[in-house]
Amino acid sequence: MKKIWVLTVLILTSLIFAACSSDSANSDDGSDSEDSSEGEGTTVEIFSWWTGAGEEDGLLALIDLFKEKHPDIDVENAAVAGGAGTNAKAVLASRMQGDDPPSTFQVHGGAELNDSWVAADKMQPLDDFYEENDLMDKFPQDLIDLVSDEGNIYSIPVNIHRGNVIFYNKKVFEENNIEVPTTFDEFLAASEELEAAGVTPLALGDKNSWPATQILENILLAKLGPDDYKGLFTGDVAFDDSRVVESVELFGEMLNYINDDHASRVWQDAAQLVAEGDAAMTVMGDWAKGYFSNDLNLTVNEDFGYITTPETEGLFMVITDTFGLPKGIENEEETKEFLKVLASVEGQDTFNPLKGSIPARVDADESKYDEYGKDTMDDFQNAEALAPSIAHGSAAPEGFLTKMNQAVNIFVTQQDVDQLVNALVNASSEF
Ligand code: GAL
Repeated sequence: MKKIWVLTVLILTSLIFAACSSDSANSDDGSDSEDSSEGEGTTVEIFSWWTGAGEEDGLLALIDLFKEKHPDIDVENAAVAGGAGTNAKAVLASRMQGDDPPSTFQVHGGAELNDSWVAADKMQPLDDFYEENDLMDKFPQDLIDLVSDEGNIYSIPVNIHRGNVIFYNKKVFEENNIEVPTTFDEFLAASEELEAAGVTPLALGDKNSWPATQILENILLAKLGPDDYKGLFTGDVAFDDSRVVESVELFGEMLNYINDDHASRVWQDAAQLVAEGDAAMTVMGDWAKGYFSNDLNLTVNEDFGYITTPETEGLFMVITDTFGLPKGIENEEETKEFLKVLASVEGQDTFNPLKGSIPARVDADESKYDEYGKDTMDDFQNAEALAPSIAHGSAAPEGFLTKMNQAVNIFVTQQDVDQLVNALVNASSEF
C-alpha cells in the first residue's frame, strides 16, 4: 500500500515538473522555443497598457533607444490593451499575487504605486539607484513625493500628463463664431449653440468608464479648489459636501451634450469625432495630443486647439506614469539598465514628444517639444497648484476608483445625483 502511494507521488511530481519546464520553454505563440528559455536571463519584460493608436509610439521609440544602447539585452513588450489600464491593472494584479512580476511595469505615482504595491511589500526601494545615477535633484519634489513612501523612493517617473484639458476642433468654433468656453456657464451656453448648429458639443467615449470619471474629477477640482479637492482623499472634506453635489449636478448637465453612441466608443474614437468636426470638444488627458499629432497627422493650433477645463486655469491635474523594480525578478541588472535609459534626458526626450506628455525631468531639452509641449511645461512650472488625478490612480486607492468608475457609469445613463453622491460616500471607506 505504502509503495503504491510513494509511486503515485513520484509520478505526480514528475508530471508537474514536466508541465512546468515545458511552460517555461513555450514562446508566446505556444511553440517550443529553446531560445526563449536560454535568453530569459537577458530579457527585460516591460509591462504597460500602451498599445495602439496614440499610445504606443513613445514606448516603441524608448525601446528602440534602449536596444541601440544594449543590443545584447532582449526586450519583451508585454503591453495589455485598454486605456488607463482598464485590463492591464487586473492582469498585473494577478501576476503580482502569483509572484510572477514583470521586470518593470507602468504604474501611476501616488496611491496606485504606494497603496497597491509598496504596501504589499512587492517593490524594491530605488534610493541607491537615484543616488548612483545622480537623479536626486533631477525631478520636481512633488513628483518624488508621489513615488515615495515612508522616506523611500519606489519608482521613476517617465512623464507628466495633464488631465484637465479640453481639446477642440478649431474650425468648428470659428465657422460657428463661438468662443471657446472658460467657465461652466460659457460651456453650457456654447454647447446650446453648437447643438443648434448641428454639431455634438462634447465627445465622450466611455466604453470604459474612466473618461467620464475624468470629466467629473475636473469639475470637482474647479468647484472645490485644489486644497479641498485634495481634502476629499484625506477625509477633511466629505463626499456629500454641497460642492460635490453641485459638481455632480453640473456633470449631469454637461452629459446632456454628449454623442449618443458614447457607450460604444473608447477615448480615441471620441477624439476622432472632434478631429472630423462631428463633435466640438472632448475632455481628455494630453495623450490625446499624441493621438491627434502622430496618428491623425493634425497640426496643433491649426486643426485642433486646447484649453484647460472650465474654471481650472492655473491648476494642473497631474498624471505621472512611472516604472519601478518589483521584488523577485530574475534580471535585475538588465532591468536597471532599462530604467537608466527611461530616467535619462535622452530617454525622456525620445518618449514624451510622441506621447503628448512633458518630461518628468527638470533638465530636459525644451526644443524637442512642439507648441503644446512648451505651453504645458510652462503651465506646470508656474502652476498655482498641482492636483492628483482620481481617474488615473494618484489620488485614491484602486478600490475607491473601481467603485467610483462603476457609480459614474450608472450615472451617465440614469443621472441620479443622490445615488452617485451616496456611492462616493460609501466608496470613501476604502481610504
Ligand atoms: C493614463 C496613462 C496615460 C495614458 C492614458 C490612456 O492612465 O497615464 O499614459 O496611457 O491612461 O490610456
